[in-house]
Amino acid sequence: MLSRRGLLVAIAAGTAAIGLTGLSEVAANAAKTFTVCKTSAVPVKGGKTFSVGGKKILITQPKAGTFKAFVAVCTHQGGALSGASNNVITCPLHGARFDASTGAGSPPAQMPLSKVSVSVAGGSVKVKF
Ligand code: FES
Repeated sequence: MLSRRGLLVAIAAGTAAIGLTGLSEVAANAAKTFTVCKTSAVPVKGGKTFSVGGKKILITQPKAGTFKAFVAVCTHQGGALSGASNNVITCPLHGARFDASTGAGSPPAQMPLSKVSVSVAGGSVKVKF
């Protein structure tokens, strides 16, 4: 039988173990920054898809020097998105159209594209997730 003191020690050890597990999950989920391409690889008002960190990422350049990044998966039924033209990303499966600047979609897509954190440094486009 566990004494009262033994019970308190066991509870404290369990709480500490849960706390350590939480910390390791935070460390495992820490965002990483990936260099994707040179800025010149993405046309103005266009877009291009890249494989980065195991994900397909669509980089757009809605206006010169402004870059946006999205997960290159249509929010309707998961169609693969491959680019943009005149600041519109069009899904090849059922024709949903997404704004290349905001990711906002039109039917049949009900949800906007998932945004990815993007930055530019030293002439390269970088994403963080
Ligand atoms: S999967 Fe993209 S419009 Fe249907």
